[in-house]
Amino acid sequence: MVRTLDSIETVGVVGAGTMGSGIAQVAAQAGYDVVMRDIKEAFVEDGFDTIEESLDRFVSKEKLSEAEAEATRDRIAGTTDLADLADCDVVVEAAVEDMEIKRDIFADLDEAVPEDVVLATNTSTLSITTIAAATDREERVVGLHFMNPVPVMKGVEVVVGEKTDGEVTEFAHALAEDLGKETWESDDKPGFVTNRILMPWLNEGIRAYDEGVASKEDVDKGMKLGTNVPMGPLELADHIGLDICLDASQTLHEELGDRYKPAYLLKRKVDAGDLGKKTGQGFYEY
Ligand code: CAA
Repeated sequence: MVRTLDSIETVGVVGAGTMGSGIAQVAAQAGYDVVMRDIKEAFVEDGFDTIEESLDRFVSKEKLSEAEAEATRDRIAGTTDLADLADCDVVVEAAVEDMEIKRDIFADLDEAVPEDVVLATNTSTLSITTIAAATDREERVVGLHFMNPVPVMKGVEVVVGEKTDGEVTEFAHALAEDLGKETWESDDKPGFVTNRILMPWLNEGIRAYDEGVASKEDVDKGMKLGTNVPMGPLELADHIGLDICLDASQTLHEELGDRYKPAYLLKRKVDAGDLGKKTGQGFYEY
């Protein structure tokens, strides 16, 4: 049994950091009551400050009225007690990227919230299947990977664990869409779609700078103007947080090894003369 989206009133968020506070904010902006939990009162307060700054930005850009911002604030309750999530209809965990901590949180959540409640994790690289195994509801655990800054970024990656039920996957897509996001789906493989591809790109940008290919400004400028991305690799790494990038890269390295050689399929396509748009056939047909 899985709760349907129309029966969801209260969203629990574990973690009030950059991601957790962003998830709490978008859920509240979408009209849900939110309970945002972190381990220390000061972390919860920091989360509220981040939300306040973001709402102020939306108001000053006239993307949100003062009244809507006020209503959003009023829908979010803060707590340091996981038991306060007992009445939540769905919980999204966005604590630190540490498997043991996440498994402990999921084991505690499994006790704290009713068994038909879906538990989602915002993990960016860790295995959903391993996190889910800390509970007795593995089929109701799913990845809901938001992008930073959550209030602005449109995309959410839905990650399907080994035991995730199909209905739970559908629920995850529907919930994210209800928060104003667009989704795509990834199997529970290291880094999923986004970080599996993004992390080598960031590392290569860092190496290009370190090995003297160009100044850091020109590495970023080259990728921004050359490939039309909003941020080059060095500024994006800074935006994400270098510690987070390192953690994610280490997980990928452990799981996937050397990913920096040209892809075999790339060489095979070129040998076959499938050079992309100009030949009418690359990875896509034109
Ligand atoms: N809350 C509310 N509004 C915000 C905001 C926030 N937290 N952050 C930015 N904005 C708004 C700004 O007010 C601005 O609004 P207007 O378009 O109305 O002017 C808009 O977003 C753009 O912001 P800025 O003009 O200040 O700055 P910018 O043009 O450099 O944009 C950015 C900022 C949206 C972050 C943009 O640079 C961007 O998209 N960068 C790439 C971000 C990205 O790739 N994120 C994914 C990282 S990977 C990840 O998250 C996954 C992981 O697991 C590591």
